[in-house]
Amino acid sequence: MSIPIKISGIGYYVPETVISNDDLAKIVDTSDEWIKTRTGIERRHLLSGNETAFDMGLAAAKKAIEKSGVKPEEIDYIIAAACLGTHIYPSTACELQAALGADKAVCFDITAACAGLIYGMGISKAFMDSGMAKNVLIVATEALSHCLDWSDRGTCVLFGDGAGAMVLSVAEDGQNDILSIGLRAQGDLGHYITMESPGKNCSLVEQNDEGQMYIKMNGREVYKYVVTKLPPHIEECVEKSGLKMDEIDYLVPHQANLRIIEALEKRLNFKHEGVISNIQEYANTSAASIPIALAESIEQGKMKLPCTAILTGFGAGMTAGTAVVRLREGIA
Ligand code: UT7
Repeated sequence: MSIPIKISGIGYYVPETVISNDDLAKIVDTSDEWIKTRTGIERRHLLSGNETAFDMGLAAAKKAIEKSGVKPEEIDYIIAAACLGTHIYPSTACELQAALGADKAVCFDITAACAGLIYGMGISKAFMDSGMAKNVLIVATEALSHCLDWSDRGTCVLFGDGAGAMVLSVAEDGQNDILSIGLRAQGDLGHYITMESPGKNCSLVEQNDEGQMYIKMNGREVYKYVVTKLPPHIEECVEKSGLKMDEIDYLVPHQANLRIIEALEKRLNFKHEGVISNIQEYANTSAASIPIALAESIEQGKMKLPCTAILTGFGAGMTAGTAVVRLREGIA
């Protein structure tokens, strides 16, 4: 049974420290011109000092909860999406539960990389449809600067740190905000983007090199995969939503590369003024990129509420997820 779900609150947080493309050119053989023309990125916000993925996630979660009007003790599930939480365990979701005082929430983390928010929305919907949850908090928090090889110019220029959060609630007024949702995975292409576990065999069994927990990516193949596979997946979700592409106000894509965003806009024939992008400022923040783009655009008045929007993400796995949503006034 499908029950009406309300997107009741959204929040985001980014660290204060800003690193420009010119700054990066001091540590790797790159240039502002290369990064800007190939990706659209101009700056990224990076963690400093003792601040962690958990801290960022907590700040974003507090904002989303405040906007939602839901009390922490009313949250049934906390789902956290993070490439690398502060700890492998306790999970980021459990850490958030304790800090928020969401005592009755069931908590777990998911690994769906940049599609993490949409995967979290799909899981939340299943819990709500089955009567297992009334309120779910999804937190995407990405400390990607801790996962990068800062001597690899092919990856280190592309990513940034940040967090976004969303509260979903059973809609008491009967209006459904999740018009359609589609999730995909293609594990046979998993080698396109990888981050190895540092775990190694016992030294009594064999000697090992130190593990290196860095993001490695075949950018060109990811690019080709996304621009060919994502548009039909988005079109399918739009069709399921009952809306026509030209009736949807905004396209909020995962912020991985401005050229990919422009290719999606063109391929979907989406109106240019409705395409949301902030990759210039934050680079690719993986699962956090969609909720950051959403919450920031609403806050800055770039997205006018109420509205309809396509949220679409793709990433390591390979995973992909798209949701066609209605966004009410006052959610961010
Ligand atoms: O959220 C995860 C999803 N990830 C993505 O969506 C990434 C998708 N892919 C991309 O965005 C692009 O493929 C990149 C931005 C990663 C790379 O752009 P590209 O146009 O595909 O460049 P390329 O990898 O084909 O490299 C072109 C050249 C190479 O030099 P040669 O072999 O032509 O001499 C690279 O070595 O650019 C060189 N290069 C750089 N040069 C300056 C690679 N990185 C850099 C750099 N600065 N940072």
